[in-house]
Amino acid sequence: MRAGGVGKVIASQNPAFAVGDYVNAGLDVQEYCLIPQDQIKRSGMFKIDPRLGLTTWLNVLGMPGMTGYFGLMEVGLPKAGETVVVSGAAGAVGQTVGQIAKIKGCRVVGIAGGQAKCDWVVKELGFDACIDYKNGDVKAGLKEHCPKGVDIYFDNVGGDILDTVLTRITRGARIIICGAISQYNNTTAVKGPANYLSLLVNRARMEGIVVFDYADRYHLGVAEMAGYLKAGTMKSREDVVAGLENFPETLLKLFNGENFGKLVLQVAKD
Ligand SMILES: NC(=O)c1ccc[n+]([C@@H]2O[C@H](COP(=O)([O-])OP(=O)(O)OC[C@H]3O[C@@H](n4cnc5c(N)ncnc54)[C@H](OP(=O)(O)O)[C@@H]3O)[C@@H](O)[C@H]2O)c1
Repeated sequence: MRAGGVGKVIASQNPAFAVGDYVNAGLDVQEYCLIPQDQIKRSGMFKIDPRLGLTTWLNVLGMPGMTGYFGLMEVGLPKAGETVVVSGAAGAVGQTVGQIAKIKGCRVVGIAGGQAKCDWVVKELGFDACIDYKNGDVKAGLKEHCPKGVDIYFDNVGGDILDTVLTRITRGARIIICGAISQYNNTTAVKGPANYLSLLVNRARMEGIVVFDYADRYHLGVAEMAGYLKAGTMKSREDVVAGLENFPETLLKLFNGENFGKLVLQVAKD
């Protein structure tokens, strides 16, 4: 099973990676990973600084963080004072997006499932508000918390929530299509946005983002995010489950919202 991971080098024939170094790479779901010399570039392997926290390198400093960073900055093009809404707000990508948007001077409203996640993004991460879509009405929440409308919507979930946000966008709004987790397990056709004419009326755009397109510039995103982490202006929350044997039920947590932060499976002890 493919997966990104962090690991410790225990044997090496490559002078760039010494025994004891920590690396981030496509290590897959397994306790040991052998990467042949000619596969190193393809695996995306790079050395990491474990002092920033090993799991942080899978979250804010890793693939989800880069998704949030490049998606927001290069597709969303946030300007100070704009209103940014992000779904999956307490998840890996969502927590990154909301925190960057706050740092850039935006008003940030999250959408998440349950009071605990909503409280966390507001009280711990500094979001301006969060709408609990499992226990409240998203449209009413958007009216209340985005009185000037939604300038940027970072969409991690698709489905009904995307459709609802479309009714509240401003002229020239940008919608970043990052994911549609509400649709991944559909056995019927994916539900597309019925309210797409709002894009027309508002001269707005929806644009997809695939994080791997930015791989050659990850180091820039990582440097900026590491600066925020060191300065204490950004936090990184991971939800770590131990044991390779727990992989199937751990993966399913993503789809019922049981994970709180970046979901990480720990397959070996450091
Ligand atoms: N485009 C890219 O390059 C790229 C890269 C990485 C990830 N992604 C996408 O980004 C999204 C977020 O990924 P992540 O790793 O950060 O996951 P995550 O947010 O850490 O975890 C998934 C969360 O999705 C929410 N969710 C699940 N089913 C839902 C539903 N039916 N309606 C609304 N929310 C639902 C749950 O949160 P609640 O408890 O709040 O419901 C769950 O905790 C995913 O769609 C993923 O595929 C895209």
